[in-house]
Amino acid sequence: MSPHTPRPSPPLPTPPWWDDLSTAVMVTDGELRLQAMNGSAEVLLGLSRERILGHPLGHWLHLDRNLSTRLRSALVQDQPITLRARQMEPLRAESFLADVIITPLQGEGDEPGRLLFELSAIDRHERISREEQLQKQQAISRAVTRGLAHEIKNPLGGLRGAAQLLAGELDDPDLREYTRIIIHEADRLRALVDRMLGPNNMPQRTSVNLHEILEHVRGLISVQLPLGVKIRGDYDPSIPEIKADRDMLVQALLNLVQNALQALGDEGDIVLSSRILRQYTVSGKRHRLVARLSVRDNGPGIPEEVRERIFFPMITGRASGTGLGLPIAQSLVQLHDGLIECHSRPGSTRFDILLPVAGPPASESPDA
Ligand SMILES: Nc1ncnc2c1ncn2[C@@H]1O[C@H](COP(=O)(O)OP(=O)(O)OP(=O)(O)O)[C@@H](O)[C@H]1O
Ligand SMILES: [Mg+2]
Repeated sequence: MSPHTPRPSPPLPTPPWWDDLSTAVMVTDGELRLQAMNGSAEVLLGLSRERILGHPLGHWLHLDRNLSTRLRSALVQDQPITLRARQMEPLRAESFLADVIITPLQGEGDEPGRLLFELSAIDRHERISREEQLQKQQAISRAVTRGLAHEIKNPLGGLRGAAQLLAGELDDPDLREYTRIIIHEADRLRALVDRMLGPNNMPQRTSVNLHEILEHVRGLISVQLPLGVKIRGDYDPSIPEIKADRDMLVQALLNLVQNALQALGDEGDIVLSSRILRQYTVSGKRHRLVARLSVRDNGPGIPEEVRERIFFPMITGRASGTGLGLPIAQSLVQLHDGLIECHSRPGSTRFDILLPVAGPPASESPDA
């Protein structure tokens, strides 16, 4: 080790309630190397602490030169820094807007000083209200679809039955071909209406391993990949098993991966990943633990004209699409009290399946 290499920075012990804080908290040493972080900070940076403690914060969060200099002098001058509505750019997660307070912690005696970072993400509130809005719109769209489906299915049954009777009366094979077409098209329409209605069973929940499911989907897709498309997994091993309907989750993931594949065409990368989020709100409920399964691709992004509406039935940006893959996937995940969210820009599209991991709700701490 050269005399200038800073000593490795050992992690700091943290109290048990540390991970119950909704504010992201991190502690670095004077060299800005992470010594402690809580679950909310892991969520914002998109990384687990096992991977990054001891490493410089700047490896995971973009710190411009100006801010790095201010941070170092904050410690020397013992002056806290407050940043309002600052755009934060993690290198492995979505950027976010946050109020940030950085407080120097002077060490006792020979102990070196540290910096305490508190980050309150502002756009989380925005995300939650957008989510509520989307859910209201989807409830209306579901009610309309159900009404319409009912109105279509009844006469369709009569139409099909009549065509069958007629076929029995006809000797001319050319005329029977017409009745065959009527029956075939009636069946096709019925299948379409059934898809529009989405899943009609409740989930059969068993204990499932989410990584096994992701790997299964990866295996299914791998056999139909064009040569230039690669698919890989990036999993957080700390996710516990959850109670879920395996087939439903496989179906939801397949719909997302199919879309990624179609968007990429002949070349590109798909990444299936998993993360555990702590103290996270899904569909208006805060959960202690939420599993996030993501399907990411580096394709062209969702076309602007459909971006806001992709979870509604029959909305498609593809000539041959029916626009049902995403609403079906969303319904399947909502049956698990979860939600699918989407972030898309040219070159990077990510669909996140958020699934609450069963356990006591965040407000009823077992230690309370
Ligand atoms: N990863 C993605 N990249 C770019 N656009 C996407 C992506 N995923 C979805 N989309 C857009 O969202 C639209 C809706 O997707 P959805 O799966 O609901 O329907 P579809 O793929 O068009 O048809 P279906 O899935 O019923 O065959 C797609 O047509 C596409 O324009
Ligand atoms: Mg699709």
